[in-house]
Amino acid sequence: MSLDFCAILTMISHFFAIIGARHLILLSFSACISSKYEPFINVTSPGVTLAITPKFTFSNDNFLSFAIDKLKNLCYNTMILLILGVYMEIISLKPTGFSSNSFLIVSGNEAFAVDPSISEAVILKELESRSLKLRGILLTHGHFDHIWKLKELREKTGAPVCVHELDAEMLTDARKNAYSAFMYGEFSVGEADVLLRDADVLTLGDEQLTVIHTPGHTKGSVCFDTGDSLITGDTLFAEGFGRYDLYGGDLDALKTSLKMLCEMAERERRWLFAGHGEPSTLKSATQSLKYYFDF
Ligand SMILES: [Fe+2]
Repeated sequence: MSLDFCAILTMISHFFAIIGARHLILLSFSACISSKYEPFINVTSPGVTLAITPKFTFSNDNFLSFAIDKLKNLCYNTMILLILGVYMEIISLKPTGFSSNSFLIVSGNEAFAVDPSISEAVILKELESRSLKLRGILLTHGHFDHIWKLKELREKTGAPVCVHELDAEMLTDARKNAYSAFMYGEFSVGEADVLLRDADVLTLGDEQLTVIHTPGHTKGSVCFDTGDSLITGDTLFAEGFGRYDLYGGDLDALKTSLKMLCEMAERERRWLFAGHGEPSTLKSATQSLKYYFDF
């Protein structure tokens, strides 16, 4: 990291210390990944850009994780991570508190919301600011922390909820969606509208994404493949993989799914957006599996 960039970070952190916790801070990290690998960073309050485009260069395959690690202490509440992909745009809505990462997949003026765990107000604001129409709500799996605001988002938008057929039962059962393992009471978000299967192709704008069934974390866990990015839910993280001890978990099935993702990493390059933690690449994330498995 250059001295100039360090100076900019220091200036930004001083500014944040002054304005304090009364303001919602949005940190937007935008990376051009299609050609020159020249990321740039915007730090903003709602509607206001505070500092723009300090450019810097990374040489390793995990530059996104590196950058976010350096910057995440500057933001709270919500971090918006914007990737301008070759095929589709991925907007990561990252809560700093409890719950999973949420995403918007964008093509043209259409979007899918993935795992709506962040406040529906944040998602709606992002859709409105970009004049995007929400075509559907996709779920990587049915755990409660990934569907935390699903009910509210569906009520506000009318968008259909799409989940793998084997995880559909989790949406209305607090034991199966693991809510009752952590909290008291019931938690239901209503029935799914569309049941997904492996290799289903979903059209968004002028592009298509593919559903990849990756059971193990839950019976119906899936990854969404946009062509240049893979949204992996809790199957594969930047470092490690999801637990398999909750309802529907199966270690043997998870190992098979992870091995398949390792083989995919050998063939094709993908950015990786997991349900928790920081973004990475499929290649980097699957390399971390060598500490656990023989593949
Ligand atoms: Fe999960």
